[in-house]
Amino acid sequence: MKIAVVIPAAGMGRRMGTSQPKQYLALAGRPLICHTLERFKTCESVVVVVEPERVELFRREILGTHDFPREWHVVAGGPERQDSVRNGLEYVPNTCDVILVHDGVRPLITFALIQTVTHKAFDAGAAIVAIPTRDTIKRGVEGFVSETIDRTHLWQAQTPQAFRADIIKKAFAAAYRDNFSGTDEASLVERIGVPIALVQGSDWNIKITTPEDLIIAESLVKQFPLLCKEGSGEVER
Ligand code: C5P
Repeated sequence: MKIAVVIPAAGMGRRMGTSQPKQYLALAGRPLICHTLERFKTCESVVVVVEPERVELFRREILGTHDFPREWHVVAGGPERQDSVRNGLEYVPNTCDVILVHDGVRPLITFALIQTVTHKAFDAGAAIVAIPTRDTIKRGVEGFVSETIDRTHLWQAQTPQAFRADIIKKAFAAAYRDNFSGTDEASLVERIGVPIALVQGSDWNIKITTPEDLIIAESLVKQFPLLCKEGSGEVER
């Protein structure tokens, strides 16, 4: 099985409140994005999507100085995450069977989880990593609760999201044809009627969004090698 990964990392990260986008902030002494890239070194093809003005700098400063393969693609992102992923998909070789999409700002993903979701997608067509929602979910309107939503079947989608190559390409073509925009790839694939398997994710696999997340990640990253060595490495629930 030939595997490609598209890593969207072209966001500005405004919620972090720093002048530098969050993917370049230091985590355990090196840029956060380097931890994420490290997890995908065994993929056949890696496409990293960055802000258009950073493409050359990224090749030089991130791939070059942190010992990543020079042949990895670094491509310019678009205004929304979906546009960035679309740009990345253009560089995936036609020979790849499964295409993964993984947020550049989720550095604590394990090889075990990447493998599980990849194999599931190869067999089923599409699979995403997700965790069951544990908090009670309310709908809020103008500062007041308007509804409590039954959380029985609710899951929080994480990444990687994995798809057989033909399926994700078809889903993106349909989304742009219909002017549909989604906040993850699975929502595009759902629209074309392909069932998406759920793979139990991990509480470790956080998306670094706020300064608090970075503090949590600093503490988790110290335990990370241990997590990766232990069986599947995923948190039991
Ligand atoms: O904004 P959000 O936290 O959902 O971003 C998830 C990932 O998508 C991040 O790694 C971010 O850099 C990336 N992104 C992108 N292009 C955009 C917006 C976000 O590649 N236009």
